[in-house]
Amino acid sequence: MTERVVLAFSGGLDTSVAIPFLAEKMDAEVIAVAVDLGQGGEDMEAIQKRAMDCGAVESVVVDAKEEFAADFCLPALRANALYMDRYPLLSALSRPLIVKHLVSAAKQFGGTIVSHGCTGKGNDQVRFEAGLAALAPGLKVVAPARDFAWTRDKAIEYAEGRGLPIETSRKNPFSIDQNLWGRAIETGFLEDIWNGPTEDVYSYTADPSVAREPDEVVITFEEGVPVRLDGRALTPYQVIDELNTRAGAHGVGRVDMVEDRLVGIKSREVYEAPGAVALITAHMELENVTVERDLARFKRGVDQRWSELVYDGLWYSPLKRALDALIAEAQSHVSGDIRMTLHGGRATVTGRRSERSLYDFSLATYDTGDAFDQSLAKGFVQLFGLPSKIAAARDAKR
Ligand code: ARG
Repeated sequence: MTERVVLAFSGGLDTSVAIPFLAEKMDAEVIAVAVDLGQGGEDMEAIQKRAMDCGAVESVVVDAKEEFAADFCLPALRANALYMDRYPLLSALSRPLIVKHLVSAAKQFGGTIVSHGCTGKGNDQVRFEAGLAALAPGLKVVAPARDFAWTRDKAIEYAEGRGLPIETSRKNPFSIDQNLWGRAIETGFLEDIWNGPTEDVYSYTADPSVAREPDEVVITFEEGVPVRLDGRALTPYQVIDELNTRAGAHGVGRVDMVEDRLVGIKSREVYEAPGAVALITAHMELENVTVERDLARFKRGVDQRWSELVYDGLWYSPLKRALDALIAEAQSHVSGDIRMTLHGGRATVTGRRSERSLYDFSLATYDTGDAFDQSLAKGFVQLFGLPSKIAAARDAKR
């Protein structure tokens, strides 16, 4: 019986060429699976049709926008997930969800092999294959761009040689990955890390240096989940989508960094993630107001580890799951409103309000009404400094 390959299909040049290539090389039937993660751009019907025109036997489009928002972006928000303190993990979050849908397509259509278009130099191959290993260890993997050492030129030649229905002339110098949580831009002139990104690199964000009127937004959270904008109840997808537009209009969320990839390379990455950055900024501040000090301090380390695990492709791993449980517990009081101003490339918190607040005006105030007993501080400070004092005395003697 002919084997069936389930291909993660983006509609771009590489995965389009992969359809006839895999069919021939593996003597197999190809099932194309395109997952809508709110990436915008080309409509999904055109992508579905292209897969058939390239020779797929089945072409599936999965609308996973709300699932991506609720089950992948929001957990990242609750973890304030920023790899190396800056990258909101938009690509890293999408792969485990794509894997999930590849696995269900393999079940539905009798696939035994899974295929993706990643090269051997990136993180995404790891995320696909570590995810598959956890969810469906019986499936084989083939990655044509990596395993058969493809180049872009070869792919174009192949497409033209076979008259595949794809635009091969358009010479986009960048490798781009985008979804609801943001957009990643790499390669081209950005590979010289002294070169600054030009405005045409960006599409989710406007130039923050252009003068405009600021926008003010109130974000309401319930247990770490954003549920309302300016009082309007919205789904997770709608919250992120609206903040992408509003924060993006003020150039919020641009990141230009050199990043440590899992495969050991340092790479130049430009990101724009207006909604993600605005939401993480707001969520962090609401945690500052509602999470007890020691839990908050501990959680910062957990958040960082969570981000590294997800970056490294270990979404479906025991440690990630255990950290999720701690993070969920830590969200139980993260409810309330954050008011922020979107302006000049920044989302700035200007107000907080919460029934679960630990901020106590009468303890914090320097005005009349002070309920803090300052006489208690004197002895506390002496005991608190005692270990250092004893150690310093010992050091002075030697
Ligand atoms: N460096 C980022 C990451 O590893 C972005 C990857 C973008 N992927 C792509 N195929 N362009 O998460």
